Amino acid sequence: MKGIIFTEFMDLVEQKFGLDELDSILLEAGDNGVYTTVGSYDHRKLVRLITQLSKHTGIAPEDLQRVFGQSVFKNLYNTLPNNSSLQDCKTTFQFIKLVEDYIHIEVKKLYPEANPPAFEFISESKTEMVFDYLSVRCMSHVCFGLIEGCAEFYNQSLAITMDKVKSDGSQVRFKVELIG
Ligand code: HEM
Repeated sequence: MKGIIFTEFMDLVEQKFGLDELDSILLEAGDNGVYTTVGSYDHRKLVRLITQLSKHTGIAPEDLQRVFGQSVFKNLYNTLPNNSSLQDCKTTFQFIKLVEDYIHIEVKKLYPEANPPAFEFISESKTEMVFDYLSVRCMSHVCFGLIEGCAEFYNQSLAITMDKVKSDGSQVRFKVELIG
């Protein structure tokens, strides 16, 4: 998993819970906290940090993943080159398709060791989009938060639901509805 995900996570923990809290979860997770944005690290280290933070704060790991997704969207977006496909993109639905067709593909080209999730599109109308999230990393709650962050960015109100297709969470069906 790319280091930017780790550095963003640590920034968020520091910002929301303070440096002491960040230090103690790193210590308890046996993690030295040395990450560079361009490096690559075992994604299980992130899972461990989330688990420790959950124990400390009493907030469910799923909720922590979701808040992380919401807050990391803008910063990931800001790493993108400002090309025409990005400028043409005006809605959350368009952006989700851009992530699958372009952004995550570029991530893999730039960093062959990266392994972002895949989206399989099932149906789409003007007001509703259904797609499956596929990843062995089972981070669908981060995905949920990223979609929320994306909706906020495009100033749209969405109702998002998700249902596991596979019980281990490696395939999850998202239904995203435009409201209002
Ligand atoms: C609606 C917007 C987006 C969604 C729903 C989304 C979804 C996700 C999820 C859920 C992950 C965690 C790994 C996993 O589940 O397998 C991930 C990883 C990642 N995403 Fe996205 N993403 C979005 C936008 C972006 C943008 C704008 C960038 C900008 C470059 C980006 C770059 C990455 C990178 C670098 C990783 C780490 C991959 C790795 O190191 O293996 N994503 N994405």
